[in-house]
Amino acid sequence: GPMRVLVLGASLRTDSLNARLASLVARLVRDEAGADVDHAHMGEFAMPLYDGDAEAAEGLPPGALALRDRLSASHALVISSPEYNASMPGVLKNAIDWVSRVRPQPFKDKHALLVSASPSMVGGNRGLWALRVPLEHLGTRVYPDMFSLAKAHEGFTGDGDLSDSGLHARLAEAVTSFLRLVEADTRYVCLRRR
Ligand code: FNR
Repeated sequence: GPMRVLVLGASLRTDSLNARLASLVARLVRDEAGADVDHAHMGEFAMPLYDGDAEAAEGLPPGALALRDRLSASHALVISSPEYNASMPGVLKNAIDWVSRVRPQPFKDKHALLVSASPSMVGGNRGLWALRVPLEHLGTRVYPDMFSLAKAHEGFTGDGDLSDSGLHARLAEAVTSFLRLVEADTRYVCLRRR
């Protein structure tokens, strides 16, 4: 079947700038690359703070299992994450910690593209460098190129494109080159398994 990409907005906020960036990426994945998109929002995966006692007593919470299912059903993952205090939000790290407890561990060998949006001038890029650490530890192939949208509160047109056409083209290029790599790798894995 066609390639399937999970696009996850990692903020719980209703008017999240990262949710807006995730929507744009989802559209680019669908229109420019013709892949199937599973567009997810962190709010769909409510879960308590990780607690080893709770895990021993009850296993994984439903929110973590739901995220595991959505990940397992996808060839690739795009995360649009806010930067909190020069790192990733606790909500996202907590979700990664819970999901990492499942076997088979669903982050392994998954391709990921990391993007961020922030009203600041850094655009959330330091948060993405922090996010690489747990993902790469779990065996995710994090795409070398990342995209961070600075001054994101004034960065979108009414149609949800980026106001700066040069930046818009750069984002589209990052998405398509990422998906080209995922597609080539997926085909290679299929050949090897024959
Ligand atoms: C922030 N914000 C922020 N922004 C940034 O560029 N660098 C940072 O280190 C931080 N730190 C930070 C810490 C905390 C606790 C909060 C609540 C916020 C601002 C942040 O980028 C802004 O709130 C974004 O709008 C959050 O993303 P969403 O929710 O719009 O997707």
